[in-house]
Amino acid sequence: MFNVKFLRILFLLVFAVCLFVSCQTRKINSNDRNSSRTETSLNSDSKNLIVFFSRAGENWQDSNVDVGNTAVMAGYINDRIDADVFEIKAKEPYPQSYDETLERATKERNENARPELLERLDSIEKYDNIFLGFPTWWGDCPMIVLAFLEDKNLDFRGKTIIPFNTAGGSGFGSGLNTIKEKLKNSTFKEGLTLTGVSIREESSRDKVNKWLEDLGFKKVVKN
Ligand SMILES: Cc1cc2nc3c(=O)[nH]c(=O)nc-3n(C[C@H](O)[C@H](O)[C@H](O)COP(=O)(O)O)c2cc1C
Repeated sequence: MFNVKFLRILFLLVFAVCLFVSCQTRKINSNDRNSSRTETSLNSDSKNLIVFFSRAGENWQDSNVDVGNTAVMAGYINDRIDADVFEIKAKEPYPQSYDETLERATKERNENARPELLERLDSIEKYDNIFLGFPTWWGDCPMIVLAFLEDKNLDFRGKTIIPFNTAGGSGFGSGLNTIKEKLKNSTFKEGLTLTGVSIREESSRDKVNKWLEDLGFKKVVKN
């Protein structure tokens, strides 16, 4: 079986490598940001879907949360724009315990698993823009997100994908490339990654709002 101490050390190592890679990626992203300034705004008649995976329970800062970090970020987006929301959930829920989650995530990754989904969407035909949110797991996106993206019901061709993410510090890691690789026939807009530890601060909500504005999403007043 897995040795938890070993997993924790492995996690720290992966984390350090991811932090380095993410610094390099951020440099590239900041160039992207400058070049995308000339893009036209997204059509205000567009239909939006927010899809995310997030885990409540014990997280890596040793705190327990009722709502996962990425779910909080999804909430900020939903507070600002008109959208339908779909949460990706595993049929066998992820453990509350952080260490047990590390073990399961390691196993799923090693086995290139596609965990069974609790619920599936019938179609995404009516949506133009898909916000896709996930936490970074082992420097990449969780396997269950791939299970969602590979669902035969869902045709992502021609959709605009807007990634968002929370992480301990390594940002999207390889997660962005992984989903771009899966969704070769979709258009990607600039994503936003925030640290899980800061997600409940008002400044994080401000960052989300600014990002949405820069993408061309106008604020929708909700009752
Ligand atoms: C299995 C697992 C692996 C993780 N791997 C990383 C990682 O490689 N880099 C990182 O910065 N954070 C990592 N984290 C921390 C999460 O990305 C971070 O706490 C995130 O905000 C959790 O989001 P959630 O509450 O929406 O699930 C990991 C967490 C778990 C549970």
